[in-house]
Amino acid sequence: MSLPQLIMLPGPTNVPPRVYSAMCKPMINHRGAEFHEIFSRLLENAKRVFQTENDLFVLTSSGTGGVECAASNILLPGEKVLVPVYGTFSERLSDAFKVYGVKVVELKVEMGKTPTKELISSALEKDPEIKAVAVVYNETSTGTTVRDLPEIGKVVKDRGLLFIVDAISVLGGDDLPTDKWGVDVCITATQKCLATPPGLALISVSKDAWKMIERAKPRTEYFDLIKYRKFRDEKRETPFTPAVNLIFALDEALQMILEYGLERWIGRHKKASMAYYSAFSAMGLSFFAEERSRSNVVIAVNTPAGVASKDLREIMRKKYGVVVAGGFGTLKDSIFRIGNMGVITPKEVLTTISSVEASLQELNYKAPPGSGISAALPFLKDL
Ligand SMILES: Cc1ncc(COP(=O)(O)O)c(C=O)c1O
Repeated sequence: MSLPQLIMLPGPTNVPPRVYSAMCKPMINHRGAEFHEIFSRLLENAKRVFQTENDLFVLTSSGTGGVECAASNILLPGEKVLVPVYGTFSERLSDAFKVYGVKVVELKVEMGKTPTKELISSALEKDPEIKAVAVVYNETSTGTTVRDLPEIGKVVKDRGLLFIVDAISVLGGDDLPTDKWGVDVCITATQKCLATPPGLALISVSKDAWKMIERAKPRTEYFDLIKYRKFRDEKRETPFTPAVNLIFALDEALQMILEYGLERWIGRHKKASMAYYSAFSAMGLSFFAEERSRSNVVIAVNTPAGVASKDLREIMRKKYGVVVAGGFGTLKDSIFRIGNMGVITPKEVLTTISSVEASLQELNYKAPPGSGISAALPFLKDL
């Protein structure tokens, strides 16, 4: 007999009981009045969480479906998009455009760092043919967040270009006022900071983006945004059968977040991230990300010399029931990543920190006992 594991992954994340319960409601007709009411409320609430007046759509797919939707709707084959590549997910964003024949101008940034306003400006200066800039706001593979995102938005919009943002791992967990920052197309998914199971992607579309979409004509059946708009406007429905139970779950989660207060919900991620960074520093550990780019939602920690991330994670999972992630590719065994997303209370934070400490001890890395917890506590006072 054991309790559920604590899922401290950078997605999927722990789901609160009220969201699970909402999922278990009996099935309804996805073309009936009850659905129309739920779906309308969901869209309104999602727009509040996105902080946007733009159109918003729900896709039955994981986050990659949202990325594929952007890649297949906006630009014509041969047109150019600038994509800063600074980790696995920004590489995937670039690949998605390539699949649809869009020419990607890649701006390589050293892993652990993030693209800056200056880098984007000079890349755009060099190539006046670029029509859009697509940025991963939070690079989940390296635990970095583009702190220049608002300035980059300004550079992009001042040039009359389209600004596409993959906010899959961060929307709801850090500041992202979509309209204020000039984001034309913003993509997220349910299984991260929205504390909902995986399976839905959300995508917002500005007026400027619609102009591009109507001109380019979607080259996709399933992710055709013009079809999504028609079904939403005429029927408050989706063109294809949606994951109805996930719609119930997301509807509940959005209500929960708004009742709690969006700013407070985001603030909880910020405070808890400070607890993690300060705890691990006190334990003598270091981080993969440069300081100015550190993410609030993915804490990427370098494993100490002689310790493999796989061994650490195995002890944490087996002995303490705490599940964290390793690195991607070359970082596989040299970092471990904690998802600080969605439901965050002192319980999640302290259990994770103490299980890192106890597991490291077993692997002969001895931090001063209790140093992590002591350093974390001041940040957890009003979490
Ligand atoms: C930044 C980012 N983009 C894209 C994805 C892909 O999302 P999914 O696995 O939901 O398809 C992820 C998943 O972790 C991500 O973190």
